[in-house]
Amino acid sequence: MAQYIIQGGRRLEGEHWVQGAKNSALPILAAAAATKSQCVIHRCPALKDVDAALRILRWLGCGVRREGGTVTVDAAGLSHSRIPEVLMREMRSSIIFMGPLLSALGHAELSAPGGCEIGLRPINLHLEAMRALGAEIVDEGGRLSCSAAKGLHGGRYILSFPSVGATENMMIAAARARGTTTLTNAAREPEIVDLANFLNRCGANVRGAGEGVITIEGVESLHGAEHAVIPDRIAAVTMLSAAAITRGEILLRGAAPGHMDAVLSVLEQGGCRIRRAPDGEMHLRACARLRHFPTVRTMPYPGFPTDAQAAIMALACVAEGASMITETIFENRYNHVGELRRMGASIRVEDRVAVVEGVACLHGAGVEARDLRAGTALVVAGLAAEGRTRVRGVCHMERGCERFEEALAALGADINRMEEDSDGKEANEDKGEKK
Ligand code: UD1
Repeated sequence: MAQYIIQGGRRLEGEHWVQGAKNSALPILAAAAATKSQCVIHRCPALKDVDAALRILRWLGCGVRREGGTVTVDAAGLSHSRIPEVLMREMRSSIIFMGPLLSALGHAELSAPGGCEIGLRPINLHLEAMRALGAEIVDEGGRLSCSAAKGLHGGRYILSFPSVGATENMMIAAARARGTTTLTNAAREPEIVDLANFLNRCGANVRGAGEGVITIEGVESLHGAEHAVIPDRIAAVTMLSAAAITRGEILLRGAAPGHMDAVLSVLEQGGCRIRRAPDGEMHLRACARLRHFPTVRTMPYPGFPTDAQAAIMALACVAEGASMITETIFENRYNHVGELRRMGASIRVEDRVAVVEGVACLHGAGVEARDLRAGTALVVAGLAAEGRTRVRGVCHMERGCERFEEALAALGADINRMEEDSDGKEANEDKGEKK
């Protein structure tokens, strides 16, 4: 298992190019399968989750080629409609292939992704959305057999919660369904708009993405297209947080500040000076100790993103005063709390509310990342901690952060990626246990 070793206390300063958005790339790659043609996707981040999506595409019969940040998917050979469990398990969002397979082949067989580190993550809304389009779905002990022998038809569906994944699945499935589909209480995330733009480039007719009601006029067929994925707003927040916690400054290039208003205003409340430029450049400077963030409540977009909650909590740990953070999207998204406490943080959690009393300084410790965003928060905290922090579970961060340690080191951080001893010696020493 790989780990990061961080020597804290270095002020970060410099420029960083923001990666393409993981959460856009994944549904867009899945949607490419539905075109049964060739699609060229630019700015596709090099991440484990993206690799997992490419493996699924290959398994389904698509040709896949990556050259730098550009991925070419040739879906003309799409022929398999069954995704084996081992591939489904590699990435939770593999459920996003359900809509494309139903649309292109009239059949999809996949397994329901189980619960995971951050919550139950049920898929009932995905299933209801597909049924609203005429799909028949049989669940045999977690193995889902979905079919639409005569093709999907347009339908109306009101989401009881604006699920990002269910909105995406329905948009892709409805693109070629017969007739009109109306999706109400749809998710409004920028990644939804990006997917709609991609689908429309492929000949689909999707209107209203980014608003609460999305209307999709089904078209006879889709064709291939070329598309560049939007910047990753969460990866951008991670880098801003890394600069802010070290009282540093950073110039982000190729970002989309307009997608980050909720987070930027919280960082500004904390005392960061942020300059946004219309061309995607943004600059953050944090000269002094951060001030507390009175109330941060995660909400569907345009609210404060759940994916940025952990990084902001790391900042709150060393801010002056008490911050209150409420997680409303996932049931179990405080995996970082116990580990931050090992570094000297003062955090009380009651149900979904975390009260963080800022301390003057964190100290280095051996900690473990149990999910992607928890892991990045621990790295952010380690950058400001006194002494050495060892963050295990790098594999989680590699799911979503492109060349994370290289990017931080380029800004002046003292961070190294190391393979842990096979006998776990160093990790045990961190816990005061000798083998
Ligand atoms: C996406 C993002 C993830 C982000 C999340 C919320 C991707 C690949 N992942 O995940 O990074 O944290 O949005 O912004 O884009 N729910 C149900 N039933 C369903 C589906 C969802 O109850 O069928 C619930 C979930 O348990 C959760 C909430 O809805 O509590 C939000 O989930 P959803 O928006 O679907 O998140 P994902 O699409 O899985």
